[in-house]
Amino acid sequence: MPYRLTVIGTGYLGVTHAACMADLGFDVLGLDIDADKIRRLQNGELPIHEPGLEPVLRRGLESGRLRFTTSYEEAGEFGDVHFLALGTPQKQGEYAADTSYLDAAVESLAPYLTRECLIVGKSTVPVGTAARLADKLARLAPAGAQAELAWNPEFLREGHAVQDTLKPDRLVMGVRSERAEKILREIYEPLGDVPVVVTDFATAELVKAAANSFLATKISFINAMAEVCEAAHADVQQLATALSFDDRIGGKFLNAGLGFGGGCLPKDIRAFMARAGELGADQALTFLREVDAINMRRRARMVDLARELAGGSFRGCTVGVLGAAFKPNSDDIRDSPALDVAVTIGEQGGAVTVYDPIALDNARKAHPELNYGSSAVDAVRGAHVVLLLTEWQEFVDLDPEALGLVVAERKIVDGRNALDPTAWRAAAWHYRALGRP
Ligand code: UDX
Repeated sequence: MPYRLTVIGTGYLGVTHAACMADLGFDVLGLDIDADKIRRLQNGELPIHEPGLEPVLRRGLESGRLRFTTSYEEAGEFGDVHFLALGTPQKQGEYAADTSYLDAAVESLAPYLTRECLIVGKSTVPVGTAARLADKLARLAPAGAQAELAWNPEFLREGHAVQDTLKPDRLVMGVRSERAEKILREIYEPLGDVPVVVTDFATAELVKAAANSFLATKISFINAMAEVCEAAHADVQQLATALSFDDRIGGKFLNAGLGFGGGCLPKDIRAFMARAGELGADQALTFLREVDAINMRRRARMVDLARELAGGSFRGCTVGVLGAAFKPNSDDIRDSPALDVAVTIGEQGGAVTVYDPIALDNARKAHPELNYGSSAVDAVRGAHVVLLLTEWQEFVDLDPEALGLVVAERKIVDGRNALDPTAWRAAAWHYRALGRP
């Protein structure tokens, strides 16, 4: 393999990219300023839960192709291609994204870029960031124009990170030279036949914002239909199934329920609106405000439904909550709809006990005020109302009869339309769901 790679930032994106690139045969150096994280990674320990990633990480370490460091000097000397995989969280109290981690990484790395190299941004950023970072690089790197920037957004989903990295739907390359394009094509050649879109920086940055906006809109669309279904006593699940047979619509991302959360969709649509505003194009994205509002209304509706089942008030009511992660197969609780609902019910006087197969520790740290169960059965013991808020397979497989034996009252709200209403009703449960009669 001709190129030696560094991956700067070892969050979800960075650690997956570093491990997968080493698996493809590249020599890879991962960098993070968090020394503890680097120590753990170097020992083969993942800081996150991601199915299938740990063996890839271990293979890389054992082969000697993958190493980790906290030293920018080492990274600058080692790498021919430097991937930037830093987080761009929502700024405190505003919609805009905070790109300061990217700026800091470029400022720290640039002084050590003394020879020809390519810096490749992968983070989700406000359009215009790449051009700004390219200027910064030109000013700070001793190699001058020999240290070039490219923008190559990442579309991986949590829970499918390895597969999405090794078999992406498409590769988007924002470049300013043929040389940059050639290097990126060579690096991704081992992935085989993947559609490639070569474009400018701004378009590459916007593809990511547009893709996440589309996905969020699709979810909020079906959740808006769920609101209408609730008012009209119709069934959003059957409606979605009927829509899905139209190829132009498709069935993916059409699951009505508690809506989207996580570290990406909510903050990305907000950052997109903020950036469009700065560009004077805010009118184009006012619909995203509605997408966000529909999404947040689902959480409020869930609390209302639960309160209704509790008899009009949560006071003196025990609520068993199944799910804390923002989606199944993840331990990520960032902007989790499930935890948001659990916390609100707790604030309104309910005695809430939460269980999640793997996000329990994260939830406990973030919300010590809630109670936590050691299993689904444990969490719903004595409950007056049970809420299914994250559709883990383990919950879908629950036996309604067996669960009915431990609760105080057989009442459940299915916040993800994941359960079979017939089976639960047959076991004498009062079953309610979002968007269904
Ligand atoms: C998302 C994008 O899918 C990915 O391409 C991008 O790179 C990062 O953001 P991720 O946040 O991992 O990925 O989760 P995703 O699987 O997209 O789900 C997002 C949220 O939408 C979850 O809370 C999920 O429960 C919810 N969702 C998804 C629905 O409510 N209904 C659906 O039909 C699909």
